[in-house]
Amino acid sequence: MKNTVLTFHQQKEEGKKITMLTCYDYSMAKLMDEAGINCLLIGDSLGQVMLGYEDTLSVTMEDMIHHTAAVSRGAKNAFVLADMPFMSYQTSSYDAVVNAGRLMKEGRANGVKLEGGATVVEQIKAIVAAQIPVCAHVGLTPQSVNAFGGFKVQGKSIEKAQQILDDARRVEEAGASMVVLEGIPALLADKISKELTIPTIGIGASNGCDGQVLVYQDMLGMFSDFTPKFVRKFADCGSVMKEAFAGYISEVQNGNFPAKEHTYAIDEEVIAQLK
Ligand code: KIV
Ligand code: NA
Repeated sequence: MKNTVLTFHQQKEEGKKITMLTCYDYSMAKLMDEAGINCLLIGDSLGQVMLGYEDTLSVTMEDMIHHTAAVSRGAKNAFVLADMPFMSYQTSSYDAVVNAGRLMKEGRANGVKLEGGATVVEQIKAIVAAQIPVCAHVGLTPQSVNAFGGFKVQGKSIEKAQQILDDARRVEEAGASMVVLEGIPALLADKISKELTIPTIGIGASNGCDGQVLVYQDMLGMFSDFTPKFVRKFADCGSVMKEAFAGYISEVQNGNFPAKEHTYAIDEEVIAQLK
């Protein structure tokens, strides 16, 4: 069954957790879709994990469309959610609608995600008016890394916690269908999740959220530049992959690969007759 904003709202009502993972390509989309993940997020985290940047700021609309289209081709039942990259919506509601529209038309996304609360209310309203589902994202919003002075937990003081709660209320009022809560204290995530009627998706938040999201390279143990506190390694695929690469190297070097069954036959006569 295709996941939609309606099924996500139903899941919240019924207390059934929503599962989201980041995804950036076709083969991974098929694997996640077949496993039953509800939502594939083409995160602008692709800047770090796919492209090797140190933050998300350099990611372009072209990068996002390219990866979103690949994921869409592999997603049958999963909802395809595309991140709006830095400066694709901050500049105006007009830019926000045009760029959200490109992710839908060229990337074939089912919805878009953008960062911010009170400051992006107009953009959210404009995108929603264009009939494009919006997932908001509050708390530790990585596109604000320079304003925050680093990737730090947000909302520990009364003022900051109040601001994040208010941001969450504002994005719901503006018409967002979901909201990601990133890098905030667990009790604050619990309170927001109870108060809002739209589903909350946590990362570095709490299990009181209506769903969870992780960057797949983190949860598969494939990315070692840094590992945030909130990551659980569900498998050590990095080690499995390195073992496979080492096995390939030695089998090629010792001539055991390719073996006869990997090669194409020809009549020996043909070879004998070659001049
Ligand atoms: O870009 C991303 O991967 C994200 C998630 C971590 C929520 O925005
Ligand atoms: Na993101």
